[in-house]
Amino acid sequence: MTAELACFEARSRARCRARFPITEVLYNCPKCGGLLEAVYGPPAQSAAELKTLWRGRRASNEPLDQSGVWRYREFIPFLPDYRSVVTLREGNTPLLEARRAAEYGGLDRLAFKHQGFNPTGSFKDNGMTCGVAQALRLGMTRVACVSTGNTSASMAAYASAAGLQPVVFIPHGNIAYGKLAQALEYGARTLQVEANFDQILALVRQLAERLGIYLLNSINPFRIEGQKTIMVEMMDQRDWRAPDWVVLPGGALGNTSAFGKALREMKEWGLIDRLPRLGVIQAEGAAPFYELLRARDRSKLNAVEHPRTLATAIRIGDPVSWPKALHEVTVSGGVVEKVTEQEIADAKALIGQCGIGCEPASAATLAGIRKLTAAGVIARDADVVAVLTGNLLKDPDYIYRYHTGELEAPDGTRIMPNLGNRPVVVPNDPDRIAALLG
Ligand code: F0G
Repeated sequence: MTAELACFEARSRARCRARFPITEVLYNCPKCGGLLEAVYGPPAQSAAELKTLWRGRRASNEPLDQSGVWRYREFIPFLPDYRSVVTLREGNTPLLEARRAAEYGGLDRLAFKHQGFNPTGSFKDNGMTCGVAQALRLGMTRVACVSTGNTSASMAAYASAAGLQPVVFIPHGNIAYGKLAQALEYGARTLQVEANFDQILALVRQLAERLGIYLLNSINPFRIEGQKTIMVEMMDQRDWRAPDWVVLPGGALGNTSAFGKALREMKEWGLIDRLPRLGVIQAEGAAPFYELLRARDRSKLNAVEHPRTLATAIRIGDPVSWPKALHEVTVSGGVVEKVTEQEIADAKALIGQCGIGCEPASAATLAGIRKLTAAGVIARDADVVAVLTGNLLKDPDYIYRYHTGELEAPDGTRIMPNLGNRPVVVPNDPDRIAALLG
């Protein structure tokens, strides 16, 4: 099948649509500066054939088939062969029904697609196995990213597994400890820059070009291809019945772009018969995409210069993929909502009480659902899947502070431990402990 890079820009504006060989090292269109995407010719197999093939691979012991990304390789056909693939068995994440979370969110039922079950604990692994495969195919030796923590953890793991040298740039003091620890343990050159995510991205783009390092941020179109499989696997798990809504947190908006592209392509390929609506949730202190959707002029996103949220994964004020995300939200009839620090913290504790757990950014989904059902945007009986993007253990410090009433929002307001669960110090005395436990 033919695979090319195409300029995505301005399906609405300039209609550039320039095309480039799939093997060119490009992150933006050289003609108009727009975002790039991978495009393919029509599939060689029918939808029914693909569904049977993909389901059958679940019983295979082949590494490629065991990967929840490469199992669906006909849907992401940008490689000539699979020699450059390094898999840690990414994807394969469960779809978990959560009754208490549904109730809290004002729904009859709710399922979480939990990407925190990935090898490095976030959805980034779905994209990174593809980005690293492309890096190897291109003969690159060093890869780099700026990250709020999860991309760097994932890139460090996949690059090291592939024998590439990972270089990560992170905002000093503003990433969760678990994520920083992963980058170190997986052997990345780790640079803590005294700037925020958006500022560091500009810096890294310059350095990547100057030093010939391959950039693996979500502007990399091959990362987006990999993240598409999150939606494909979800549909496979639902026997190809599309839900009414897919709700996810929005930061740099790579995932929103990937999900939208996946859903459109699945519909074009006849794998599903309708598009779910996308619900993108941002943190109140880092919500430029929310503001864009409310603006009269949607041709330019106004960046938030100093984004602030304890959900550090989505602490991004100038999301690069906004033009793609805007297209996907519009095409799907979707919405963008924003939630407060308190709402995120309580929703997160509630997800924990379901025995599921997640990191703060992921909990924005449930907080957003609660708001959207209250406003009548999402119906109580809607079929909703929320994507939990990261594992609970990524940010244990946040958890401890919440449950002990020590968590403070960036503006200094105390977060109330409404669902707090404070640990109790007890003497080494069975009678007193028995009295306490009743
Ligand atoms: N949830 C988690 C746990 C994340 O790590 C991220 C992004 C998002 C949601 C938002 O996804 O950027 O595609 O809209 N983390 C990036 C990183 C920015 O560097 O790890 P997005």
